[in-house]
Amino acid sequence: MHFAAIGRVPGDPILGLIDAYHQDSNPNKFDLGVGVYKDPNGLTPILHSVKLAEQRLVDQQQTKTYIGGHGDSRFGQLISELVLGTESPLLASKRAGATQTPGGTGALRLVADFIAHCLPGRGIWLSDPTWPIHESIFAEAGLKVSHYPYVGSDNALNVEAMLQSLEQAPEGDVVLLHACCHNPTGFDLSHDDWLNVLDVVRRRHLLPLIDFAYQGFGDGLEADAWSTRLFARELPEVLITSSCSKNFGLYRERVGALIVCTDTADKLTDVRSQLAYLARNLWSNPPDHGAAVVTTILGDAQLKAQWADEVEAMRSRIAHLRAGLVEALTPYGLAEHFAHINQQRGMFSYTGLNAEQVQVLREKHSVYMVGSGRANIAGVDGTRLDSLAKAIAQVCKH
Ligand code: LMR
Repeated sequence: MHFAAIGRVPGDPILGLIDAYHQDSNPNKFDLGVGVYKDPNGLTPILHSVKLAEQRLVDQQQTKTYIGGHGDSRFGQLISELVLGTESPLLASKRAGATQTPGGTGALRLVADFIAHCLPGRGIWLSDPTWPIHESIFAEAGLKVSHYPYVGSDNALNVEAMLQSLEQAPEGDVVLLHACCHNPTGFDLSHDDWLNVLDVVRRRHLLPLIDFAYQGFGDGLEADAWSTRLFARELPEVLITSSCSKNFGLYRERVGALIVCTDTADKLTDVRSQLAYLARNLWSNPPDHGAAVVTTILGDAQLKAQWADEVEAMRSRIAHLRAGLVEALTPYGLAEHFAHINQQRGMFSYTGLNAEQVQVLREKHSVYMVGSGRANIAGVDGTRLDSLAKAIAQVCKH
């Protein structure tokens, strides 16, 4: 048999939780697994701005013909403006360009192939810990994957150790940095920390790859872009992966972009020719519907303002849920122990709960979170914070 030697790999540590949660018949279950936002009714809503844009597309779209390897150039322009800022000199001088990809994951896959194909021998440095799919995407592309410390066993950010480690990275290696809302920990660098990282990256001639999957979920759409814009401004060459899954709620439509910044417009054309070649081999043309929705929204001042309000509403609700959970833990004497939940940003919290506690939470209390102790705060049911806190308090006692 041809397939006789094929074994089984474990299921995806994050997506696997979706099925496990759905199969649990406990009506009081909690879904803190995969990173999706849930509204007070427990639904992951389609944003109003998205619905309006979709309606407009239904009424006005003329064709579904192929869109080209880089996707829609208007989408590319608008997403680059969202990420780099409308006033970015890189855009005016044609030194930055976006390739439309199937989600942020598609952008990461494309950039992994780009590094392997066009920059052979370069290794990549990931934060320890990082999103597990970072590990597999770059390893599968054949890159040597190394790690810089980020959050240690004390569940605290260790910038000193991160900087020391990056000092040791071979010149030319790629460093993946999370622009904001670090996944899985929720611990973000301060502006001063970013300046220090920039300094090492510049001195060591490292190539930054900034993964920007949660724009708008940390401190706001503009504030979250601070680090990305700093790097794009200060360095001649930067790679950026952007996702519209969370901030547009377009998860399953798969909308993202790989934005490349170069020192000359001519070099951008070279790089983009390679990206078009690689994308052709991966998915030929990117999916269009979700990107067309984003283009419709960002290209219309009124829709854009409505969308920005919706992003802000999601952001502030997550911040309230963080504060609410810590408050709910207070009667159990655990407010201080979990104070970091309030300091973290974005959807995720590295709770500090260990694998065993996570397992007990799941088996005894139907609370689903990733084995690393990562909880999706954006999935918390705000009306049942007390019962969540009670479950957490029970596993902390043992
Ligand atoms: C997550 O980390 O839960 C999200 O980024 C969704 C995913 O694709 O894993």
